[in-house]
Amino acid sequence: MHIIKLDATDSTNSYLRKLSASETVDDYTAIITEKQTEGRGQMGTIWSSQSSKNLTFSVFKDMSEFQLEHPFYISIVTALAVLKTLQFSSISRLSIKWPNDILSANKKICGILIENVIKQNKINASIIGIGLNVNQTEFENLPKASSLKILSGKVYDLNELAIAILNNLKDCFSLLKDGKYDVLKAEYETRLFRKNKPSTFKDAEGLMFSGFIKGISDSGNLQILLEDNIIKSFDLKEVSLLY
Ligand code: BTN
Repeated sequence: MHIIKLDATDSTNSYLRKLSASETVDDYTAIITEKQTEGRGQMGTIWSSQSSKNLTFSVFKDMSEFQLEHPFYISIVTALAVLKTLQFSSISRLSIKWPNDILSANKKICGILIENVIKQNKINASIIGIGLNVNQTEFENLPKASSLKILSGKVYDLNELAIAILNNLKDCFSLLKDGKYDVLKAEYETRLFRKNKPSTFKDAEGLMFSGFIKGISDSGNLQILLEDNIIKSFDLKEVSLLY
């Protein structure tokens, strides 16, 4: 484990991607920054985070030795590693909102952005970006966001949290290396936000529909039980959960 600390960078994912393209980077090298000027979220969104208050970091994972059933397992491993870390931090009602947001009750406390480095049609490495809201207490215009401090009243040490996440990432990746797909998928599904609860979704055309989240397919698509009693799988571009 090798931690590189920066005062500021555009995005730790971009920094680590460039670094790993120009030199050999050890497994689990982490880039942690106080401030990101161009923090990126999923689906081209912006990730903003108050300087020095939160964890904004990226981890390099060598995937060349893995025989992955599907890339989504990298998301599963990462979400579970963050969740396991938070279980010991007085934060209650933790869940994973598909695909990989970490929530406490219905508030988002962590976002994950995984970018894979492909070589010869295979994932050679993953850049795992994690934005965890830790000690920030105001989220202007983000009513669905929260932080560990808001939820528990405590101030957390960013370094300790980063090390705990890295250790849990190692444990979860070793399960993946051993081919424990069923164990990882089952644990992920148990933690799914709104599982088996009547929920409302929006499809790619913006149309709303109702259903029940049942789990995920082997490729990580969301399985929803629809009103006609049929279970349909949706990918990230096809559906978003409204409530
Ligand atoms: C999301 O929920 O949309 C994903 C957010 C991921 C944010 C983290 S912060 C560290 C890393 N660097 C980035 O530019 N993004 C990720």
